[in-house]
Amino acid sequence: MSSTQQIHLLNSLLLFLIIISSCSVIHGVDEAVGYGYNLKSVSIDPNKKWLTAGLALIRNSSVYGADIQNLNLFVSFETSDRLRIKVTDSAHQRWEIPQEIIPRQSQNHFPLSSSANHPTRILKETHSLSDPTSELVFTLRNTTPFGFSVTRRSSADTLFDASPDPSDPSTFLVFKEQYIQLSSALPVNRSSLYGLGEHTKRSFKLQHDETLTLWNADLASANLDVNLYGSHPFYVDVRSGSEDGRVAAGSSHGVLLLNSNGMDIVYGGNRITYKAIGGVIDLYVFGGPLPHTVIQQYTELIGRPAPMPYWSFGFHQCRWGYKNVSDVEGVVAGYAKAKIPLEVMWTDIDYMDGFKDFTLDPINFPEDQMKQLVDKLHQNDQKYVVIVDPGINVNSTYGSYIRGMEADIFIKRDGIPYLGEVWPGPVNFPDFLNPQTQTYWTGEIKLFRDILPVDGLWLDMNEISNFITSSPRPNSAIDDPPYKINNEGIQRPINNKTVPATALHFGNLTEYDVHNLYGLLECKATRAALTNLTGKRPFILSRSTFVSSGNYTAHWTGDNAATWEDLAYTVPSILNSGLFGIPMVGADICGFLGNTTEELCQRWIQLGAFYPFARDHSDINSIRQELYLWDSVAATARKVLGLRYRLLPYFYTLMYEAHMKGTPIARPLFFTFPQDVHTYEINSQFLVGKGIMVSPALSPGVVSVDAYFPTGNWFDLFNYSNSVSSTSGKYFTLAAPPDHINVHVREGNIIAMQGEAMTTNAARKTPFELLVAVSKSENMTGELFLDDGEAVEMGEDGGKWSLVRFHGADAGDNVFVRSEVENGEYALNQKWIINKVTFVGLEKSWRVKGYELRTTENTASLNGNPVLKAKLDKDAKFQVVEISRLMLPVGKEFNLQLG
Ligand code: NOJ
Repeated sequence: MSSTQQIHLLNSLLLFLIIISSCSVIHGVDEAVGYGYNLKSVSIDPNKKWLTAGLALIRNSSVYGADIQNLNLFVSFETSDRLRIKVTDSAHQRWEIPQEIIPRQSQNHFPLSSSANHPTRILKETHSLSDPTSELVFTLRNTTPFGFSVTRRSSADTLFDASPDPSDPSTFLVFKEQYIQLSSALPVNRSSLYGLGEHTKRSFKLQHDETLTLWNADLASANLDVNLYGSHPFYVDVRSGSEDGRVAAGSSHGVLLLNSNGMDIVYGGNRITYKAIGGVIDLYVFGGPLPHTVIQQYTELIGRPAPMPYWSFGFHQCRWGYKNVSDVEGVVAGYAKAKIPLEVMWTDIDYMDGFKDFTLDPINFPEDQMKQLVDKLHQNDQKYVVIVDPGINVNSTYGSYIRGMEADIFIKRDGIPYLGEVWPGPVNFPDFLNPQTQTYWTGEIKLFRDILPVDGLWLDMNEISNFITSSPRPNSAIDDPPYKINNEGIQRPINNKTVPATALHFGNLTEYDVHNLYGLLECKATRAALTNLTGKRPFILSRSTFVSSGNYTAHWTGDNAATWEDLAYTVPSILNSGLFGIPMVGADICGFLGNTTEELCQRWIQLGAFYPFARDHSDINSIRQELYLWDSVAATARKVLGLRYRLLPYFYTLMYEAHMKGTPIARPLFFTFPQDVHTYEINSQFLVGKGIMVSPALSPGVVSVDAYFPTGNWFDLFNYSNSVSSTSGKYFTLAAPPDHINVHVREGNIIAMQGEAMTTNAARKTPFELLVAVSKSENMTGELFLDDGEAVEMGEDGGKWSLVRFHGADAGDNVFVRSEVENGEYALNQKWIINKVTFVGLEKSWRVKGYELRTTENTASLNGNPVLKAKLDKDAKFQVVEISRLMLPVGKEFNLQLG
């Protein structure tokens, strides 16, 4: 055959292929994706804890592959607030996230065998499962196709409604080898959804008509609305009140689809549809009924957030592109000189020898100088953290590679370690599903830490990020599945710049199924390694996350840009992480990509000072942006970090609350004000804990901000004499000159603070001050948790810690604040004292005649010679009363009464 003939033949073949493939596209449009299932059998536990049902396919459809003929449905009340609904193939075991990867509390009540083992009931029109102890009611409908719903007993509100619309097959359940579709109707104007990440979004509340794709990818978070580093198929649904008054505004529930496969979630406002390319339907409904109880129930299932060390709440400085040790030392000195607190110094991949993990560049970051650097930091109560990437350089002279090959722990394709490419060039990736990998990983970290005792590890590129895209295996539906998720917003192949889906993990698990779990597993192994090696509470920062990552790691929002838009988007991103059970979260302060400006950096540190995790980080190609480089930024940094450091006991107590109950540190306004429907729309303000509200300036050139204040009196934390009184929630225009951010505490909160200092350790040695934001109508409350800040466990039985609960009330002719102490001994041993109590928000007309102070032992000498000062605030609306020179031991109960 001549070459022209060959070209002709090829052309005709190509044309033929194009026709065939366009036919199948047309076919796909015409034909329904699936025709649903009918109910075949049902059995219900006599105690009403579980139900099982058999489902049979109605009719085959050929779109996205063949349907699975018979399914089992299992429904179970796992707790009174948690309902689990599971649908899977009745004939074959499918991929499910194993219990060892995400240990779930109180597993199934239902028998996992098929429903055939149980007496089958005669099918009725509906079958319901309603455990008398639960607010949730599950109803199974024997329609064609079958459907189900979950309702709230007290209000009859439908929370999840998978009843098919017979006229619309896109609402039917579809269950194929590589395509699962589940759809729920939503009350269009009464439902506000939050979560389903990780994406950068303009708006915290999910907008109608968007497709949220979940497939972990190394895409800069400067990209809006595309799948980013983590996958969290979890949402919170906050309902506005119903017109008939049955449903109260703020009534909330949560929904998790526990599935690690790639998926699109199509949110249309009146409907949410999951389209997953594998796994099973393992759906959990959390009954709430309030936003914070939803998160409490969610983290009860997936595990509570890991405690973070006290020091990690200090300020962190990082940059990609520090040239050598003296460059790094210069930055540390720059902060000291400018008197801006710097707790943790970081180094990016620059410190490594040829970008190889666990090595030091012998020229620019040699061992002796690095040791000295870390020593000096430690002497100064500062810390040092370095980056680690998962890719191990393929290099026969490199110990970590040699040991990895010997232990045979790398992810494989075609029987040999899969070859990717990252910073050091060719790399293999440790397979954290292989039980041997823990020993390998701990060993590598140990060898490195024996040389350089770093205080934490930063796990980057763990989506996994790969600089190459390996070609798919011919005709492989794993590398090229029939349904294309909207990867990168343009349906890019799932193999794009990551480990290919046909690569194999230990136990022959495909990358296809476990891709989204890699970051989680790496964090888990790293946490175990660090705990084991140091005996202390580890600090890990991970870019990639999945459901339950918060049990192991902190998170930052990845590669944002140094733009005003990205500054604003950090608020929704941080709030989302809190919902996902990862409360220790921050965004790169001053922006990562591109050059920041003085004004942007000044506004960013104002906001960033109130992120749970506060780190300045920049890209190698952008200008330097350490906070001391501009006088205005330095002055603002001293001011806002000054307040942050005074609030360290509050941040740390919020960490304790997060660890015990899951409640985020940075919270949406609707966590405290669920009845206030205006708070559902807020994107640019947030709460730290229940009572401190941050209202940042987010645009260039502004000197004021319009901030929403839910009802109540609010007091400016930078100047207690400035107050905002909101009789019913409304917007206020507040002055926001370049050096100021509005941070207010609401009436009813009692905040324990300490003094400003250059390190968290120094701050911990200063006396406490209590700020009592007086409320006439509500009880005042606050908490203070104290431990050494680095014990592996936080607040466990028998541990060394103290918990102080503050209570107060305005009883008309007297105002009191008192403490209740649990395990006071620890605080007493540390000799912590409260030396000042400040009351803000006392009415102007209130006459302060004096005070009375009692401790449990009534020991007058403990009280020193207190001084009482009272003054009117600027608007003469409230007065501020300060009692100083107190010597109240934190560990002892007291009662202080103004009269
Ligand atoms: C990507 C990370 O997101 C970024 O923070 C880091 O600086 C670079 N990798 C280089 O390691």
